[in-house]
Amino acid sequence: MSSHPLEEPGVSSRFIDPCILVIFGATGDLTARKLFPAVYNLAREGQLPSQFAVVAFARRDKSSEEFRKEMKEAINKFSRVKPVDEAIWKNFEQQIFYHKAEFHEASGYQALDKLLKDLDGRFGTKGNRVFYLATQPSYFTTICENLHTSELIYDTKIVKDKWSRVIIEKPFGNNLESAHALQNELLKFLAEQQIYRIDHYLGKETVQNLMVFRFANSLFESLWNNRYIDHVQITVAEEIGIGRRGAFFEEAGLLRDIRQNHMMQILSLVAMEPPVGLDANAIRDEKVKVLRALRPFTKEDFKTSIVRGQYDKGFIGGEPVKGYREEDNVDPKSNIETYLALRLFIDNWRWHGVPFYMRGGKRLPKRASEIAIQFKRPPGVLFQEHNNKHEPNVLAIRIQPDEGTSLKINCKVPGPASPIQPVKMDFRYGSYFGMSPPEAYERLILDCMIGDSTLFAREDEVFSSWKLLTPVLEQWKTTEPDCFPNYQAGTWGPELADEMMKRDGRKWRIL
Ligand SMILES: NC(=O)c1ccc[n+]([C@@H]2O[C@H](COP(=O)([O-])OP(=O)(O)OC[C@H]3O[C@@H](n4cnc5c(N)ncnc54)[C@H](OP(=O)(O)O)[C@@H]3O)[C@@H](O)[C@H]2O)c1
Repeated sequence: MSSHPLEEPGVSSRFIDPCILVIFGATGDLTARKLFPAVYNLAREGQLPSQFAVVAFARRDKSSEEFRKEMKEAINKFSRVKPVDEAIWKNFEQQIFYHKAEFHEASGYQALDKLLKDLDGRFGTKGNRVFYLATQPSYFTTICENLHTSELIYDTKIVKDKWSRVIIEKPFGNNLESAHALQNELLKFLAEQQIYRIDHYLGKETVQNLMVFRFANSLFESLWNNRYIDHVQITVAEEIGIGRRGAFFEEAGLLRDIRQNHMMQILSLVAMEPPVGLDANAIRDEKVKVLRALRPFTKEDFKTSIVRGQYDKGFIGGEPVKGYREEDNVDPKSNIETYLALRLFIDNWRWHGVPFYMRGGKRLPKRASEIAIQFKRPPGVLFQEHNNKHEPNVLAIRIQPDEGTSLKINCKVPGPASPIQPVKMDFRYGSYFGMSPPEAYERLILDCMIGDSTLFAREDEVFSSWKLLTPVLEQWKTTEPDCFPNYQAGTWGPELADEMMKRDGRKWRIL
């Protein structure tokens, strides 16, 4: 029996079947920077099944030999462990094949079918497939339809002795309506349990550790509610601008790029109730309850609880950088947001009255993703004379970089004067475990091969998140932002975001 309802029958918990990974869009940025380094590291650590092969599907003319060479260079550039180990590479490269075809051409899929069957014979991969759609979202349906027509996706009701799964990159839809439309299209060709909606934040060690931290430590779980917690801050800050992704960002904006997916996933893990078990559905049931309990934005909230921003030119690391409107492939009058701050409330017993402040942006002073749980101040009956130094406890969970957790507590400074000073208890993954955590894509590709969908977004999670945020996009369509660009590159975003906090008597953390 499988260990959770979203796994196909016969798939045991951490056992990896022989399989072939097929990457669509294999000459793209994501494949070179993330996917091949991840698969190489899995091979290096002996985590892949011994019967395994990778097929790279793209339209450029090149041989498997040329493609292997390019991927070796990419791994040497982007892998967390480098340079490439020659002995491992020598074996691994024999399992990599390039397949030239266009996404919309049926003949390319027939040729793919032939190649995969041939590889099954050579590598013993038994007909099992992971199809990774590392492509623009507009191709998701075309590819799935072609895979279905050429019987590369198996009907789960009929085929029981082999499996096929599809990893779909973000974004899943542009709003609630298009997410529903995409889902309806996909369901014509796939069953829900064959769809793996990837959100690489869920593959990060620190994000996964959130559940262990909360539910394996009675110390914190008992304080995790509106009686003790004053507010929560979630930050996803990036130092980089939009680079060569101008055309993409002009359509997406920050809300679609990181808010609707990464930040909502983090929020649901921070706020969820303990699941009844560790299987995929039990966890995702609890996460979706949080998203459903999010209070919809009112008209007033658009003025007080939502701040959008766009970066102007400025300085990063002492170097001058362009403003968003001067970037390549960006409209010089663009009103696309590169910063967003929100105040959210979760209408349930645990979180009633606790604001969740979330901010994310490009061209902020540093790359930093963090969850900060700020506890209530103790009643001021003792230590009043120390009030200025007497800070609330803060539990900070660093997602990246410098993954770890710190707890700020107040402490008496030694000596007769007894001043109080906040100090930090700090845990760092790197120094404690003596290793950098594996890349998120390593874990997620492996989980898909195993048939474990726990760390992938379920359809109702995606819809609930869009349900909250689509009205924001609708409202933005009808109102021009006041004063874009409204923050300088290299600063912590627009002043309006600071004012939002000030009105509530709070302030953003300095990271
Ligand atoms: N890049 C990232 O860091 C990142 C991070 C998270 C998520 N994502 C998501 O991942 C997906 C891919 O992103 P990316 O940055 O890798 O995109 P990309 O660099 O634009 O790559 C797209 C790939 O699709 C191929 N392609 C396009 N049209 C095709 C067609 N008609 N037939 C065959 N191949 C075709 C391209 O081939 P050519 O090279 O010949 O054009 C290229 O291999 C997107 O959904 C993106 O949102 C990307």
